Amino acid sequence: MTYKINVKNIQGNILTGFSKDFQSFMFLKFTDTVEAKRWLKDITPEVATVEELQAFKDLFKLTKKRRGTELGTVQATWMNLAFTHSGLQALDVSQHELDSFPEAFKAGMKARANEIGDVGTSAPENWIEPLGSKDIHALLIFASDSPIELRKYIMRHATILESYPSIKIEFLEDGMDRADQPGHEHFGFKDGISQPGIRNFTQPANPENPDQGIPGQDLLHAGEFVLGYPSQIPEADPEHDGPNPNPGENSHSGPIWTVDGSYLVFRRLRQDVPAFRKFVEHTAEKLGISKDLMGAKIVGRYASGAPLESSDAQSRDAAMLPQQDPGLRCPFLLDDKNINNFEFGEDEEGKIVPRASHIRKTYPRDQGGEESRTQTHRMLRRGIQFGSSYRPQIEGFYPHGADTEYPQDRGLLFLSYQSDIERQFEFVQQSWVNNPDFPEKGDGQDPIIAQSPAGEFKMPLPTQGGCPVHTLSIKHFVTTTGGEYFFQPSIHALCILAG
Ligand code: HEM
Repeated sequence: MTYKINVKNIQGNILTGFSKDFQSFMFLKFTDTVEAKRWLKDITPEVATVEELQAFKDLFKLTKKRRGTELGTVQATWMNLAFTHSGLQALDVSQHELDSFPEAFKAGMKARANEIGDVGTSAPENWIEPLGSKDIHALLIFASDSPIELRKYIMRHATILESYPSIKIEFLEDGMDRADQPGHEHFGFKDGISQPGIRNFTQPANPENPDQGIPGQDLLHAGEFVLGYPSQIPEADPEHDGPNPNPGENSHSGPIWTVDGSYLVFRRLRQDVPAFRKFVEHTAEKLGISKDLMGAKIVGRYASGAPLESSDAQSRDAAMLPQQDPGLRCPFLLDDKNINNFEFGEDEEGKIVPRASHIRKTYPRDQGGEESRTQTHRMLRRGIQFGSSYRPQIEGFYPHGADTEYPQDRGLLFLSYQSDIERQFEFVQQSWVNNPDFPEKGDGQDPIIAQSPAGEFKMPLPTQGGCPVHTLSIKHFVTTTGGEYFFQPSIHALCILAG
């Protein structure tokens, strides 16, 4: 079924992704409705759309291909805008419309801490103020290829805000790709690889397979991520292998003007890099495997991004898994044909990719023959790192992040877009990541992002060659230091909100 996605009306970061090395997140509070609406009217023309980001991406690809380098090609600076439920209230949205939003968005992330597992040191009482408070009304996301252009653009908006004294900048957080390991998160693994493809938007790499973008990337209906479009059907279609390709009902939520908008989950996740490294080293030694393979068992991919699971049946011998990251020797494993082209169905017991590993917990693919249902819990991830890289050689020389109490403040600013926070982000956190009995009883929690009140949890690791299962005791390495749920309206809705 073809339908047209209104790329002129949807904000850019939702479907295309800014993919910029430098990003900043400005959290605002409104204290005067009239002024807030005037400001919104002023800045709406600057909000970047999917159409603009796509045009930029096409031009970037074209120039890079001809010149053979990224250097000297086109650059861009973008801005997007989202609101919390209390922000919409401050903009004078009617009570009737405010009430019609879903419960999770109305409550905000802080109030949902128990549902999503923000307990112990990740509990909201330990978050950096004012993250999670009702004083956060709007989020401006700035993104640029150049740190200088980004600063200039932020200063432009700070100057605009000076004309609106009732709007306060409550918090400003900088995100930055790592200079020493571009594209890698702080534990050292390539991130941002696997994303759902979108029907009528993502180009199928093979025209004879209209259900996939790059090999292994299932195309999903746009309504999973943007309101107002067909969504996925959770039941399998007997006529088709893989996820049901038929369109389900159009996604809808809240007032009528939410069409072409999306819900944004923002999480500030601090990573304890020295503790993670020590754990990987120590456990690898204990099990007699390499650090590369140990890390891959935890994440589900080697640090280069090479998948541990292979589409090639011959390589599916758990005893023969490469000890050294194969992405370093065989760069073809990282190309579009191979990087995402795998399922877990032939590794039901998790001997190759443990069932608790991060990528298997957060996206179990064909695990248990439930592919159609699994596809109703996907997210478009748009995260970026904060803080400087951990380099033990220069210990004591870390410019800290926002938290002066914690000089080694570094981690991931996790952002995800979805049309239903409860069915997508919250479900993944609650029913998969933090659930020690998913997919099977006793499988353990996600070693990267799970939380537990005791600060420690278990992850069974089926060892190789039929040896018994080894159960790892994991102290959590990631702590939530703040977060919030936002709604990112369409351009048309921004005009309505501005009155
Ligand atoms: C500091 C925290 C986190 C780190 C270090 C981290 C790291 C990674 C890495 C290295 C990958 C593999 C590369 C890729 O496919 O993009 C990945 C994939 C993924 N992560 Fe995370 N992640 C974090 C937080 C989260 C959170 C909070 C969620 C959602 C609840 C999440 C959901 C996913 C998903 C859905 C995938 C893709 C799985 C797939 O499609 O194969 N991650 N993450």
